[in-house]
Amino acid sequence: MEGKQVELIRLANEEVEKQKQTVEMDHYRLRYHLMPPVGLLNDPNGFIQWNKTYHLFYQWMPFKTGHGAKFWGHYSSTDLVTWVTEPIALAPSDWYDKNGCYSGSAIVDDNKLKLFYTGNVKDEHGNRETYQCAAQSRDGREFEKLGVVASLPKGYTAHFRDPKVWKKDNTWYMIVGAQSIDEQGKVVLFRSNNLVDWVHLGVIAGSNENDLGYFGYMWECPDLFELNGEDVLLVSPQGLIPSGYLYQNKYQAGYFIGKLDYEQAVFSHGDFTELDRGFEFYAPQTTLDEQGRRLMFAWMGVPEQNEEAHPTIKHNWIHAMTLPRELKIQNGKLYQVPVEELKLLRTQEIKFENQKFDRDEITLDGISGDSLELQLDFSSNDYEHFSIFFRDYATFSFEPKKKLVTLERVSFANGKKEKRQCVLEKLDSLNIYLDTSSIEIFLNGGEEVFSARIFPLEENKEMIFSARGECICHIKKWDLD
Ligand code: FRU
Repeated sequence: MEGKQVELIRLANEEVEKQKQTVEMDHYRLRYHLMPPVGLLNDPNGFIQWNKTYHLFYQWMPFKTGHGAKFWGHYSSTDLVTWVTEPIALAPSDWYDKNGCYSGSAIVDDNKLKLFYTGNVKDEHGNRETYQCAAQSRDGREFEKLGVVASLPKGYTAHFRDPKVWKKDNTWYMIVGAQSIDEQGKVVLFRSNNLVDWVHLGVIAGSNENDLGYFGYMWECPDLFELNGEDVLLVSPQGLIPSGYLYQNKYQAGYFIGKLDYEQAVFSHGDFTELDRGFEFYAPQTTLDEQGRRLMFAWMGVPEQNEEAHPTIKHNWIHAMTLPRELKIQNGKLYQVPVEELKLLRTQEIKFENQKFDRDEITLDGISGDSLELQLDFSSNDYEHFSIFFRDYATFSFEPKKKLVTLERVSFANGKKEKRQCVLEKLDSLNIYLDTSSIEIFLNGGEEVFSARIFPLEENKEMIFSARGECICHIKKWDLD
């Protein structure tokens, strides 16, 4: 490793040590979610399982709670539940990545773990350059940079980043998130036989492509994979206009199901669907693990959405990852299921069978806390309204007649109520993961998901149930440790 990289890594480690106490004193530190040791975390990067060990890298700014010249932080795990902090994988030390080792992916080749990422470069006037770069490791801990593997093809602005690489029929492919010269978001495909020489095959999908119409000025963090014989493209488009319940966050993340024609370099696809209906979710990335599961992590945050108002910045850290989720396709829709391994966290089960809710505001013995899993199975949908009020901060509700799901919370930006909603035919079950400052709600086994950060008072651990009409369900609750 050369001098500049060693020095930056030393400074980042020093910052972790220096801020440790301030960070760890924050009661909003999460108990079972991944967070930065200090500073800002954003996208999941390089998610992969290699020789039984899962590796998850992340976009990391160690020196402040804002964005800037990103590092790749690194966690590893053998069970997706207990994570080990690994040495920093990449630092922005070279001419081609000096303003950030931006997002990318990992593959295994030739018995090495190889990373592909974007080198972000800016000059003194803020003009941007972009390079797709590689790095490799023999032990999965120390990475050696290999430099630039692909530069910017004609026809795009320098908003060209986030390479995701995979192998199909003995050929390597890479997709990159892009903006065309006329400021439309696109996904661009490359091909290679050796991971070094990359041929630009052109745009496979994007705004104003394949009958889509205008769909944003930039597409970030693309990911493409096969699931149940379909091709799925995940992407985070920027510039969608809010419409009804849709596209309410500053930026979105979602998917298209379709078919990639590798010869013609065209992805024909259906409609875009948002992956998450909550307030904080962006830049998801997947991997195929050794059991054949398609697993996904996402950033439980959104760029440029109230970052300056997050209460945790007082403690010199910001943001977290979602829980790992397994993706499945059911009835033409992507379902997200919390990975099986999360059951390892469960302690102290409490059960209520045939619990009836038919009036306002009740609490249930033992159903409270700030680090827990709650499972509700509903017997019918013959009621008007059912809600759970969490920790005096956020309310989940379902109105069967309107087929409407709502998550409402107090905005940490201005203290006002704000909500996210989606339409749901019928509510059969809820699986809720509450952590000290987050909530993830899985409806009907992952048909819809709401993810959000919440910042209740520390002492407030109550959950209040209420209903209009008669709502009956089985409830199970576990503390998570
Ligand atoms: C998405 C993103 C990526 C970029 C990275 C920089 O959140 O903007 O497009 O590579 O973050 O941290």
